[in-house]
Amino acid sequence: MRLAGKVALVTGAGRSGELMGVGAAIAARLAAEGARVALLDLSAARAQATAEAIGAAGGSAYVITADVTRHAACVAAVAACTERFGGVDVLVNNAALYADPSMAGDEAAARRLVDVNVFGTMNMTEAAHPAIAARGGGAIVNIGSITGLRGYHGPVYSASKGAVFAYTRTMAHQLGRAGIRVNAVAPGHIVAPQSAKADAAARRLLDAANLLGTGGSAADIADAALFLASNEARWITGVVLPVDGGLTATTPSGMAGPMFDAMRD
Ligand SMILES: NC(=O)c1ccc[n+]([C@@H]2O[C@H](COP(=O)([O-])OP(=O)(O)OC[C@H]3O[C@@H](n4cnc5c(N)ncnc54)[C@H](O)[C@@H]3O)[C@@H](O)[C@H]2O)c1
Repeated sequence: MRLAGKVALVTGAGRSGELMGVGAAIAARLAAEGARVALLDLSAARAQATAEAIGAAGGSAYVITADVTRHAACVAAVAACTERFGGVDVLVNNAALYADPSMAGDEAAARRLVDVNVFGTMNMTEAAHPAIAARGGGAIVNIGSITGLRGYHGPVYSASKGAVFAYTRTMAHQLGRAGIRVNAVAPGHIVAPQSAKADAAARRLLDAANLLGTGGSAADIADAALFLASNEARWITGVVLPVDGGLTATTPSGMAGPMFDAMRD
């Protein structure tokens, strides 16, 4: 019960179907550690599905339907969480859209993606940090992607995640004296809804393309988010933690050996 007595607000916490997304996995993990969790999502039905799973496991969850691109909606969400649970100790900025290369040329879609991934993170942080400070401090965890650290396909998505990391460090600087730690997780090639389209052959390659040679899941990201949200990380702020099987610790030439080994298996 590492978060007993704490209140967490997780954005993009909805789920649909069997394959749990990152936000739903984080919300469930925080709830299992004793936090009361506000589940914010654009979709009430998706958030409700997560709430039911948390409730069935004995946890406490509350659904908030909101669009993180709307600052007023974020302020209202923090107020609703405070009214329901008495405050906010932990904010997890997870809601995001994922761009595929075909988005190039569709400026409206590109702008919407940056709006959700970057302005959504900033809106929620601006809305929540006074409430977190009022509790004597707490933690903000931003969910980025390794595409914000390395060159990948999907320039708009990558740029948005790079912005999330720059914002993470800057807000750690801004909010440290208020006792608010701001950190980010950079997930690698996990199996989660945004990446579930990869077929079996592509998945084998993705799983082999890291130092451990194994695949990751939303649960791995949830464990890292829990650590950064908990008191065990009390002296950690302004970091971007890759959770990627070591992929960003090496280079393509460094990976050549393990990749060839995997292909021979
Ligand atoms: N899936 C991956 O392989 C992967 C890899 C690296 C990083 N990530 C990151 O992990 C996070 C979650 O990914 P996922 O695969 O679980 O995604 P997902 O699409 O399953 O979940 C995202 C949730 O955000 C919600 N959402 C979208 N726009 C919103 C808005 N404007 N306001 C409020 N809610 C909104 C959606 O309704 C959805 O429930 C994202 O930040 C993503 O960039 C995922």
